[in-house]
Amino acid sequence: TRPRVLVARRLFPEITERLSAHFEVDAYAGVAPLSPSELVARLQGCAGVLVTGTERIDAALLEACPALRAVCSMAVGYNNIDVAACTARRVLVSNAPGVLTETTADFGFALMMATARRISESEHWLRAGQWKQWSYDLFAGSDVHGATLGILGMGRIGQAIARRGALGFGMSVAYHNRSRLPPADEAAVSARYVDLPELLRIADHLVIVVPYTPQTHHLIGAAELALMKPTATLTNIARGGVVDDRALAEALKLRRIAAAGLDVFEGEPQVHPDLLTVPNVVLTPHIASASLPTRRAMAELAATNLVAALTGAQPPTALNPEVLAPAA
Ligand code: GLV
Ligand code: GLV
Repeated sequence: TRPRVLVARRLFPEITERLSAHFEVDAYAGVAPLSPSELVARLQGCAGVLVTGTERIDAALLEACPALRAVCSMAVGYNNIDVAACTARRVLVSNAPGVLTETTADFGFALMMATARRISESEHWLRAGQWKQWSYDLFAGSDVHGATLGILGMGRIGQAIARRGALGFGMSVAYHNRSRLPPADEAAVSARYVDLPELLRIADHLVIVVPYTPQTHHLIGAAELALMKPTATLTNIARGGVVDDRALAEALKLRRIAAAGLDVFEGEPQVHPDLLTVPNVVLTPHIASASLPTRRAMAELAATNLVAALTGAQPPTALNPEVLAPAA
């Protein structure tokens, strides 16, 4: 009999169809995500699961789902998956790097520009019927072109944002990353490496693209925000927990920095109530990779990994390919 797999979120019907050529597919069609206990219940007897960045796959779930052999995510960030616990149980894990890089960089740049130029704030004001006359400082923001772009996290997406800033907008690009890029890669995106305090001090526009790990939890808090220019903007398209949202709301309220653009939040879909009351923040619901072609490519890549993992082929973007090696 064919292996059973769960598609844990409502997805393109073509994905289910494609998986059905290989597997017995249970495609969850609900809009609200499965609760942890519902997920465990649906996974009984499943050899594989296609997840997104929101399903929590931890040791307790693996314990409760002994048939599981592959967890394939359509997200690039995998902080929702305990990869070490999966490896210990020889469960293959894959994510979806590469296919969303340019789309996510487009959005990061758009959010940074909307933040610098106060696009959301001015639209709310216009819709509220407050536009009676023009004035010289009406929603005057800061320039993006020619400014210093600070990038925190120089993976694929960080480099794609750097390229946009340097080549398209004549920005001076500085970055900080856990490890420095090889000189040729730095040159390719015209970026110079600085330490984190220096990055915070010099950036006119800071864009955060680091993965969320114990090391990056609250990497940006009150002390870090205090180093930034009062005219600076902060854009977060990484994960909410990287920024201390309470401290950020406070800094925005007191104008310690000019504005922020946030696509991700600590404890999303809950948003810190203080962020909802400050005007100088652009808020979007975790949509940086959300172009239709890219969401399709992400789902396709997850499906490709799932088919490979359960049919004895090499999944293209496995995070722990060693689990597929024959046991020593
Ligand atoms: C989205 O946040 C992703 O990690 O793909
Ligand atoms: C994601 O693809 C990253 O490395 O930034």
